Amino acid sequence: MKNILKDKVAVLTGAGGGIGSAVAERLARHGMKIILFGGRNREKLAAAQAAVEKHTACLALPGDVTKPEFISSGIAEAVKEFGGIDVLVNNAGAAQNTPFEEVGIEEFDRLMAINVRAPFLMMRAALPHLKKSQAAAIVNICSVVSHSGYPMQSIYSASKHALLGLTRSLAREYYKEGIRVHAVSPGGVYTDMVRVSRPDLPPEGMIMPGEIADIVEFLLVNRGNAVIDEILVHRVGKEPFLV
Ligand SMILES: NC(=O)c1ccc[n+]([C@@H]2O[C@H](COP(=O)([O-])OP(=O)(O)OC[C@H]3O[C@@H](n4cnc5c(N)ncnc54)[C@H](OP(=O)(O)O)[C@@H]3O)[C@@H](O)[C@H]2O)c1
Repeated sequence: MKNILKDKVAVLTGAGGGIGSAVAERLARHGMKIILFGGRNREKLAAAQAAVEKHTACLALPGDVTKPEFISSGIAEAVKEFGGIDVLVNNAGAAQNTPFEEVGIEEFDRLMAINVRAPFLMMRAALPHLKKSQAAAIVNICSVVSHSGYPMQSIYSASKHALLGLTRSLAREYYKEGIRVHAVSPGGVYTDMVRVSRPDLPPEGMIMPGEIADIVEFLLVNRGNAVIDEILVHRVGKEPFLV
């Protein structure tokens, strides 16, 4: 089978994190050139970069995705280095484990800035380049909380609902230009985030980050006439069709 991803360019945010680093490494195995937008944790970003560089060329950019200038300069650097962008994975995110009445305005703004405004800025910056690609795709890592309200996660839920809305609108706005915009909505992936936001969940039965990488890989590799808009994924112990 022809490897349609080879030498294409992928940009990922939250690339030092559990899901982000697993997806980056998987796409690297296909020979994609990879731009990692990292966060505050330089060590994790360096580890993700080392894993990617075993397979392909990589640019790692540490910074804060809530800063518009980080995003615009990062996208410009990516295009200068690799000549374009074919795939954008909006994965950086922050969760919450707080009663609603304890959420201050600053925390509300922070969650919205990371989970909604950053993908908005990334997509806006990447779209002119995606339009030139023959295999353009955006994958937005939403959540089961995009589909339901979760207690103690009110603002996280609101922000992920917003991201899903953004995803659905962009998918409809750009499909005629050949840009596929997908939502992947997992619940209960074994990463640092869930260890903090859902300490009640036991590690057994959690989804592993590599399993989310399987899904993103499937969406990008299988670019036939059957298009998957969104994928809702729950951990094995959770009742099906109950997000
Ligand atoms: N784990 C789950 O069960 C689950 C379920 C549904 C959806 N998700 C979504 O999956 C995505 C990845 O999360 P994860 O589970 O892999 O957790 P994670 O390991 O904590 O990864 C989150 C990543 O986002 C980055 N990030 C956070 N704030 C940032 C900022 N202001 N600027 C730049 N980067 C920032 C973090 O970087 P630093 O730490 O280096 O700052 C980290 O690399 C998130 O969007 C999350 O909402 C996760």
